[in-house]
Amino acid sequence: MRTLFTRTEERPKITPMTYAVDTRAVHAGRADLAELGVHALPLDFSTTYPMHDQVAAGAALGAFADGAATAATPVYQRLYNPTTARFEQALAELEGTEAAVSFASGMAAITAVLQAACLMSDRRHVVAVRPLYGGTDHLLSIGLLGLTVTWVDQDEVARAIRPDTGLVVVETPGNPTLGLVDIATVCIQAGDVPVLVDNTFATPVLQNPARLGAAYVVHSGTKYLGGHGDVLGGVVACAEQRAGALRQVRILTGAVLHPLAGYLLHRGLATLPLRVRAAQATAATLAVRLAVHRGIGKVHYPGLPGNDPRGLVGRQMRGPGAMIAFETTGDAAAVVAALRLITPAVSLGSVDTLIEHPALLTHRLVDAEGKQTGGITPNLLRMSVGLEDVDDLWADLDQALTAATRATLAVAATVASPEQVPPAPVLPAPVLPSAVPAAPDAASAVPAAFDDEFAALTGSGAASATSAQAVNGSAPVPA
Ligand SMILES: Cc1ncc(COP(=O)(O)O)c(C=O)c1O
Repeated sequence: MRTLFTRTEERPKITPMTYAVDTRAVHAGRADLAELGVHALPLDFSTTYPMHDQVAAGAALGAFADGAATAATPVYQRLYNPTTARFEQALAELEGTEAAVSFASGMAAITAVLQAACLMSDRRHVVAVRPLYGGTDHLLSIGLLGLTVTWVDQDEVARAIRPDTGLVVVETPGNPTLGLVDIATVCIQAGDVPVLVDNTFATPVLQNPARLGAAYVVHSGTKYLGGHGDVLGGVVACAEQRAGALRQVRILTGAVLHPLAGYLLHRGLATLPLRVRAAQATAATLAVRLAVHRGIGKVHYPGLPGNDPRGLVGRQMRGPGAMIAFETTGDAAAVVAALRLITPAVSLGSVDTLIEHPALLTHRLVDAEGKQTGGITPNLLRMSVGLEDVDDLWADLDQALTAATRATLAVAATVASPEQVPPAPVLPAPVLPSAVPAAPDAASAVPAAFDDEFAALTGSGAASATSAQAVNGSAPVPA
C-alpha cells in the first residue's frame, strides 16, 4: 500500500516522452494520485520528520549528504520534501531527463550548476554566449564565485574551451533580444565540457535541450512554469549522475524551493502547453503589426523573416515563442509610461502581458561591452505576451507608441526651429481597450494625421532623450 508521501523511486512514472507534451503536462508526477485516493497534489509543510529509529534516520541523512534523491525518511525539509520532489519528477518527465533538482529561484539554480560543475570539479573557467539574463551575466562577470569567464559568439565556443573549463553557458532564445543559439552545435563544440542551456523563454513545450546534448537544462520557474506571477522558483533538469552534486550543493547552501512554491509550480505545468501556445499565437500577430508600425525601429522575434538565420525554429524550437523585443523610434520609457492595459513590470511568462526596459532594469548591471554585444540599446523594450485578446493588446501598444513618437518628434522639431513650433496635436481621447475595434492590419492602425506629422517631422529617427539619458548618462544630440 502506498502512503500519501510515497518515496520518489517507488512512485510510478508515466513513460517519459511517449505521450504528447499536453498529456505529460497534465499527468506528470501524478501517476499514483488515484491509488492514494486524492485528486489534488499532496502538500507537506513539515520542516522535520520524526523517526524513532535514529540509526535509520542517520543512514538517511548520510544518503542525502551523498546526493541521494530519496531515503527511508526525509529527515529534514532542507534534505528532502515530498511536494517539491513531485514537481521535480514532473519537470524531468517534461524535459525528458532522468532527474530534476529544484531551487529557491532561477538564480539559485544557475548558481548551483556553477558550483557543482566548476567549483566541485575545480575547473573554474566558464565559456558563455551573450546575451544572457542580466542576473546571470552579472554573476559571471563580477567573479563572485571565483570563476573567470570568456564571452564568445556561439561559433567560437570550441576555440574558447581550456583544460580548466567547467561549463559552457547559453540561453536560447536569449534574454532580451531573442537571438537563437544552435544547441546541438554548441554541445558538439563543447566536447566533454557540460553545457548549461537556460530554457526559461522556450519552456519544455517548445524546446528540450537535453535531447540535443545539453547537460543541464535550467528554468526560472518564476516565469512560464508557474505562469501566474505568484511563485518564485528554479529547477535544473539533468541526468541522475549530475543531479547528486546539485542536491549536495542545495543541502549545503540551503537554496531550497518552498513546498508551497513546489505545489504551485507543479500545478502550473498542467496548463503550460495551452498557455504557451495561446500566448505564442498572439505574439506572432503582434510582432507582424509592430514590424510595420511607424513608432518602431526594429522588432526582434524569432518568427519574423530574417530573425532566425540558422533556421532553428521548427528544427530546434517547436515555435517562435511568446517573447518579443522591439526598438522604438520615440522614447522607449515614454512608451511604457503611456500604456494603459499592458503591465509595466519585469519578469515574464505570466497570464498578463508584461513589458520592461532592459537597459534600465533587467540588464542594468550588464557592463557596456555586454550591452553592446547583446544589442541592449536605450530604445529597446522587452515584452512577454500574455493571454489577453490580441486586438486589445494591439490597441494599447498602438496608442502608446503613437503618443511617445509624437512627443519625441515634437521635441526634435522644437529644438530644430523653436520659432515654428507646431501646435500640439490633438490626440484622440483615450479609449478603453475593450471598446477598441479590432485593427484589421498594422498599417491601418496608424492614424492618418500621425502619418502626416511623421512625414513632416521625419529624418529624426529621434533617439529617446529620457531613456538614452538614463542609460548613457548624456542626452542625445538632436540631428
Ligand atoms: C532567462 C532567465 N533566467 C534566469 C532568471 C532568474 O530567475 P529568478 O528570477 O527566478 O531567479 C531570469 C529572471 O528574469 C531569466 O529571465
